[in-house]
Amino acid sequence: MKTLKDLGNVSGKRVLVRADFNVPLDGTTITDDGRIRAALPTINALREAGAKVIVMAHLGRPKGQVVPELSLAPVAARLGELLGAPVTLAADTYGEDAQAKVAAMADGDVVLLENVRFNPEETSKDAEERAAYAKKIAALGDAFVSDGFGVVHRAQGSNYDVATDLPAAAGLLVEKEVTALSKTNDPERPLTVVLGGSKVSDKLGVISNLLNKADRLVIGGGMVFTFLKALGYEVGKSLLEEDQVATVQGYLEKAKENGVEIVLPTDILAADSFAADTAYEAVPADAIPADKIGLDIGPDSQKLFHDKIVDSKTVVWNGPMGVFEFPNFAGGTRAVAQGLIDATAENGAFSIVGGGDSASAVRNLGFDESKFSHISTGGGASLEFLEGKTLPGLSVLD
Ligand code: 3PG
Repeated sequence: MKTLKDLGNVSGKRVLVRADFNVPLDGTTITDDGRIRAALPTINALREAGAKVIVMAHLGRPKGQVVPELSLAPVAARLGELLGAPVTLAADTYGEDAQAKVAAMADGDVVLLENVRFNPEETSKDAEERAAYAKKIAALGDAFVSDGFGVVHRAQGSNYDVATDLPAAAGLLVEKEVTALSKTNDPERPLTVVLGGSKVSDKLGVISNLLNKADRLVIGGGMVFTFLKALGYEVGKSLLEEDQVATVQGYLEKAKENGVEIVLPTDILAADSFAADTAYEAVPADAIPADKIGLDIGPDSQKLFHDKIVDSKTVVWNGPMGVFEFPNFAGGTRAVAQGLIDATAENGAFSIVGGGDSASAVRNLGFDESKFSHISTGGGASLEFLEGKTLPGLSVLD
């Protein structure tokens, strides 16, 4: 994979940087700026080298329409604050305004192009249409740096096609992510993988790959109820993917054959309804009452999960254990995060938080990010990396 140094001297050059600024928003307030902070090293390195830095990114899924609520304006403001330098937002991605703003740049300046997904061609399945669009973006720059790790699993105009039009290289974030996540390919063992989140159907590929690789899988979150059902337990009104029960039974058998330990919760916080202030109690995982909904793993499971995680030399975590946005149901996610921290502190383990919701949870629950070995910025991208898939946004940089 080509890296920044392969671009040579970028002084005075216009360098297009694809970042992942797909941050959670509450109106125009960014509720977690982790992805913006993660882009700073590359942007700063290019500015210091005298480049004109033209950043592009997507926000949400506007499906080729201009959706004012998904403008990158809040991101431009936050990026400017974090850089301590003005960031000019272009009103379009490659049109007249982008061209004028780029033409007016001095060395070291930063321009952010408006949401690339406002253009239907960005995500078009028609490769020719996408390629023609990418050429218009490429005309704004002299070189391309891919630093949006969260989007490298997509072959889209601004992260894939444009890399074929210009001298292209991975940015510092992409380099760091690939180095960290690659540690799961030849891991120091035991390798424990903790999976949560709502749907088992989102994690099918990763689970089947991990059954050949991990020593232990720890399962929580909404997806755990499909596992409990596969064991023949009733799960009440909890989230359940009935059509995945047979697949999960197959996974449990394969785990046995391969000697992979599957750790499931022994107790569940069963609530009256899906609400922050609902009444709830801890019940055994095999006795969830028919009228209750499971919203987190229970206290015994929190201890069990924590201890299994600490007993690892490499640990990867993707997906919250419960509805951590409701304080009463954040205990499982907290216990897992603490487990990763303790595994690193006490056991020298390499601990990876796989992006998306788990990375946001770590920050929003107030954990010290520096205590983990690596917090990925990729949600889907880190999962597909763990699945062992070829990621187009990376292979195009080879
Ligand atoms: C993400 O949030 O995981 C990335 O920004 C990719 O977004 P997407 O799933 O909408 O392509």
